[in-house]
Amino acid sequence: MTKYYSLPERPRRLRQTAAMRGLIRETTLSPGRLMLPMFYREGLSGSVQIDGMPGVQQHDLDGVMRTTHEALAAGVASVMLFAIPEQRDATGSRAYDSDGPLTDIVARVKSEFGQDLVVVADLCLDEFTDHGHCGVLDQSGGVDNDETLAVYEQMAVVLADAGADLLGASGMMDGQVGAVRLALDSHGAVGTGILAYSAKYASASYGPFRNAVESALRGDRRTYQQDPANRREAMREVRLDVSEGADIVMVKPALGYLDVVALTVDLVDVPVAAYVVSGELAMIEYAAAAGAIDRERSIIEALTSVHRAGANLICTYWATEVARWIVAGRTAH
Ligand code: PBG
Repeated sequence: MTKYYSLPERPRRLRQTAAMRGLIRETTLSPGRLMLPMFYREGLSGSVQIDGMPGVQQHDLDGVMRTTHEALAAGVASVMLFAIPEQRDATGSRAYDSDGPLTDIVARVKSEFGQDLVVVADLCLDEFTDHGHCGVLDQSGGVDNDETLAVYEQMAVVLADAGADLLGASGMMDGQVGAVRLALDSHGAVGTGILAYSAKYASASYGPFRNAVESALRGDRRTYQQDPANRREAMREVRLDVSEGADIVMVKPALGYLDVVALTVDLVDVPVAAYVVSGELAMIEYAAAAGAIDRERSIIEALTSVHRAGANLICTYWATEVARWIVAGRTAH
């Protein structure tokens, strides 16, 4: 005979069936909150697989169009565009050339998909400089904050003219959001928004991305990106960006920084984004390929965690695939 205990609470009651679990689920992924990062490479024809990023490619124009179309068809409503130029120089001049590859791809995507798609353009110099840093260098080889701001201002204006809806301010220069906002407003681009990479850490998880953009970087970005050990400092960066006019703030990477996502959500009243970066993709893809973990469940669990931490939107290379799973009902356990 089973002896029944009179427990004051039995949480398991609410876990007995899929229907009951669905009823009380607190976090649900939705396609419209996923943002797909994409790489356009000037001079390429076709699409090439990126080392270290299984399933992710560099594209030519047709590839970008096709991939964007697939994303939209799956319910993903935004793309984050990166461009790899054919030529690089010390100041990253192709970044603020109105005929440069990023302005070009932004304009083409925007003219094809119009208001159905939110187009985010990466506003940073690292793909465009021959030294690979996110800004221009001073005499001693350090990154010159204020010279860089002047370049970001020019870049902001050409990207706004190309039709970008949001500019992804990802360089971690002091004052970048304020400088870009002022440049946009003075240009009359009051409707162009800023997605600020407010808390961007100097992470080892960007390794594969550097292959994706064929980064020329030697050394590291520790004089501008944040120390992974710091949490309060992220709050300072977020506070500053909101005060300078950020429309959305982002935490990056996402999975190792869920505490920072949660704190950010409590601190500000603008939407909070989180970027599941290339190394985080690689960790799951390679572990799954080795048979150590279940790929689909691990991806869903990872993105659900980011959402549970409070991110309103998630930037992920898996966006289209996950959007299809959501629509097919596969994300509900
Ligand atoms: C810099 C930038 C980086 C990423 C996005 N924007 C790399 C870096 O800071 O070195 C990384 C994204 C990823 O790893 O997926 N503009």
